[in-house]
Amino acid sequence: MLKPLFTFCFFCLLSTTYAQVPVKPVGRPATAAEIKAWDIDVRADFKGLPPGQGSVMKGQEIWDKQCASCHGVFGESNEVFPPLVGGTTAEDVRKGQVAGLVSGAEASRTTLMKLSQLSALWDYIRRAMPWNAPKSLSTDEVYAVVAYILHLGDLVPADFVLSDKNMQATQALLPNRHGMSKEHGLWRVSGTPDIRATACMRNCEPSARISSELPAYARDAHGNLAEQMRLVGPVRGAQTLSTANQINSSVVESAEKLITKYGCTACHARDTKLIGPAFSEISKKYGNQPEKVAELSKKIREGGQGVWGTIPMPAQPGVSELEAGLLLNWILKTKKE
Ligand code: HEC
Ligand code: HEC
Repeated sequence: MLKPLFTFCFFCLLSTTYAQVPVKPVGRPATAAEIKAWDIDVRADFKGLPPGQGSVMKGQEIWDKQCASCHGVFGESNEVFPPLVGGTTAEDVRKGQVAGLVSGAEASRTTLMKLSQLSALWDYIRRAMPWNAPKSLSTDEVYAVVAYILHLGDLVPADFVLSDKNMQATQALLPNRHGMSKEHGLWRVSGTPDIRATACMRNCEPSARISSELPAYARDAHGNLAEQMRLVGPVRGAQTLSTANQINSSVVESAEKLITKYGCTACHARDTKLIGPAFSEISKKYGNQPEKVAELSKKIREGGQGVWGTIPMPAQPGVSELEAGLLLNWILKTKKE
């Protein structure tokens, strides 16, 4: 009897409470101006593209001041960022498909190699660049800087002016305009994504290959990535620590394990010179030179001699780049006791 009674009361509660106490509405409808401020996407068919124009010349001014520091004077990029320009040929422009992407011959994939929709470049720059001040460019400045990138890629002449009127015609010059794949299952709502991943998830090889490296000046822009990422599995953080005192105890622990694992102590001790220099001496020499880490890491892995005497340190190819980074963090913080 108890249960039906409860059910009955539950509904009567609901109906009385909700029917009689009006719910106070929260918020207010967005105004037309607010919606307009957010509604800035430009579609592949150029719907949403605001009227305006910008020349290659004007674009160069903006580029040199606001983009070149990260993307390079010619869009070739500095060491940190992938290049925006390069890797496309006149033949690619004719065909509308970048041969270097199909053959895999090009080592890096520049923006102009990949880009199939000019609207995407325009839209992306307007909403996201310059990285340190997104949305700061005016509409005309976005046209100008896009025109300049296209000019750097030899797609338009130096006196070219890009505008909402000729975007469609300019789209027809993109080297990879026919290169977009729709055969990946996510293009259609009813499609099935590729779920046959072959990435290693457990008991993986210890030294996943890291194919790119940050230069010293950019290494610790986001703290020490190695500490922020897991040390097992295929995704490993690069060692980006620059100052030895930023270290945490888990890193020390794994470094100590590695010292034993690789037998560094056969030649190195904390405070005394054995075959190789004492760790505290190495720390004294390089402790405040974070830019040396990459060089020292290479030396641990590939061997070398002449800095501390004539005895060489043998190459230790088993030590991965990440491990060398962890070891160095530890070594460079070692103080004489
Ligand atoms: C402070 C450094 C910095 C500055 C300055 C900067 N960018 Fe970028 N740019 C980046 C970074 C970082 C990315 C990659 C962002 C990401 O992938 O989330 C990027 C990505 C891009 C891309 C997309 C590349 C691709 O293929 O995915 C374009 C295009 C671009 N930037 C254009 C510009 C333009 C134009 C300017 C100047 C108005 C500019 N950037 C200024 C750092 C910068
Ligand atoms: C067989 C002996 C030996 C082993 C094993 C050894 N080292 Fe060395 N190490 C040396 C010698 C000798 C030097 C000095 C080389 C020189 O003078 O350039 C040295 C130098 C170094 C330096 C300083 C390099 C420089 O250019 O100033 C570091 C850092 C270092 N070792 C780390 C390690 C680590 C980490 C391990 C273990 C993974 C290790 N070593 C294993 C012999 C060894």
